[in-house]
Amino acid sequence: MSQRKLYIETVGCQMNMLDSELVVAALRQRGYELVDSAKKADTVLFNTCSVRQHAEDKIYSALGRLKHAKTHNPEKIIGVMGCMAQKDQELIFRRAPYVDLIVGPGQLHQVPDLIEEIQASGQQRMEVSMDRADGTRNDVAQSFESYDPLRDPTMRPTPYQAYVRIMIGCDKFCTYCIVPSVRGPEQSRDPEHILAESRRLADEGCREITLLGQTVNSYRFRHGDGRTTRMADLLHQLHEIDGIDRIKFVTNFPKDMTRELLTAVRDLPKVCQYLHVPAQSGSNDVLNRMKRGYTVEDYREMMTNIREILPNAAVTSDFIVGFCGETEADFEKTVELVRECRFKNSFIFKYSTRPGTKGAELYEDDIPDEVKRRRNNELLAIQNAISEEDNQPFLGRRVEILVEGPSKAAAKADDGQPQLQLTGRTMCDRIVVFEGNRRQIGQILPVDIYDANSFTLFGQIVTQHVGTEVYSLA
Ligand code: SAH
Ligand code: SF4
Ligand code: F3S
Repeated sequence: MSQRKLYIETVGCQMNMLDSELVVAALRQRGYELVDSAKKADTVLFNTCSVRQHAEDKIYSALGRLKHAKTHNPEKIIGVMGCMAQKDQELIFRRAPYVDLIVGPGQLHQVPDLIEEIQASGQQRMEVSMDRADGTRNDVAQSFESYDPLRDPTMRPTPYQAYVRIMIGCDKFCTYCIVPSVRGPEQSRDPEHILAESRRLADEGCREITLLGQTVNSYRFRHGDGRTTRMADLLHQLHEIDGIDRIKFVTNFPKDMTRELLTAVRDLPKVCQYLHVPAQSGSNDVLNRMKRGYTVEDYREMMTNIREILPNAAVTSDFIVGFCGETEADFEKTVELVRECRFKNSFIFKYSTRPGTKGAELYEDDIPDEVKRRRNNELLAIQNAISEEDNQPFLGRRVEILVEGPSKAAAKADDGQPQLQLTGRTMCDRIVVFEGNRRQIGQILPVDIYDANSFTLFGQIVTQHVGTEVYSLA
């Protein structure tokens, strides 16, 4: 049988990147190979996101472009998976009748079988069940263990870095957010399984793991015998794994950032002092309408704890501008919070109303788009200036980086030479660009920083003189 060719396009958050890796790994076992365009493929999969309208529009227009391909080659299988598949369900068949497969995030382990069924029957298939109604969570639990262990290092930025899921779903129901209704109820994964998967990744040469959860620091697993494993306990256990040098975790929920967890981060040298803790807004009125469950005073108190226990930690945030009813005065309070907290960087989003959320039901999306855009640009400019200032103290300093691969520019102009521009990351998630050698990819190396802008540090690899030989520390 000739090899089937798979093309996969992924949008959305790290959860989706991981899901795509797992689906590709499962399909490889059935003899698929990956190709780099939809044109060359006989199976095309889209792993989708519904967090903002824009993310959905992108997928619908990509699907539109495939209409002709399907007319020319009716054998081509087109599948839509992930959050938008869960949210829109058969609407996708109505908007793009040539789609063969719709699969929600809880059923991704079924993708290989579903594709075979479609090939055999010629019928469309949709699997989007969510086990919320009767309270059982079997399907969700299964989706953890039935396919998580299959990994595919070629789908990762580098084979030395991997995502490890520790939670699925979300129970917070922030009023603007679609995630709880497409990803289902929050559930923490058994620490034994997390440890086993991380050990296996280490055995395969992976050096950095990033633990994933929508509110990762709310992690809490109750064992049969009544014991509880919390995030801090989990970090202590993962820290013991030989071969894993760096441990990160995203995304944190402000209310659950306990001093116990911050202390674990301080005491465990492999745990990166990098904390992504979205604030979303600096105004209590807005936070209240968002139903975030904290006040700006709570957030400030959390920042004080972070600065006290981890004075060198890089803290990053997300903000939504133009949420329903956000006044100029509310926005100014957000600006104030950004100036005060001096985040390493912030992701800033214009509010996008999501049908099916409480926010869409209760409040009018009343901030005109040009106002959202102005607030977005203003906040971004303030944040970027802070990011640039905060990168300046790195000038002349030596940092340790995990080398990830060619820089964007070098990847584009790749001529196969061993010497090229590489990028790596510090423990606190700062990107460093430097001239290096291909064989340094995957190593942890010292670099001297000589320049910096808002987003990037520029450095030179440290060389050590031994006799007449000059070599890179490795
Ligand atoms: N679980 C994470 C974030 C998930 S979504 C958390 O709770 O922080 C990633 C980011 O997208 C959010 O932090 C928020 O800033 C943004 N976002 C979510 N819903 C949005 C919406 N309807 N419009 C604009 N931005 C949104
Ligand atoms: Fe969405 Fe809030 Fe859950 Fe984050 S915590 S995924 S923003 S509902
Ligand atoms: Fe998007 Fe789903 Fe992630 S909606 S942000 S891909 S959980």
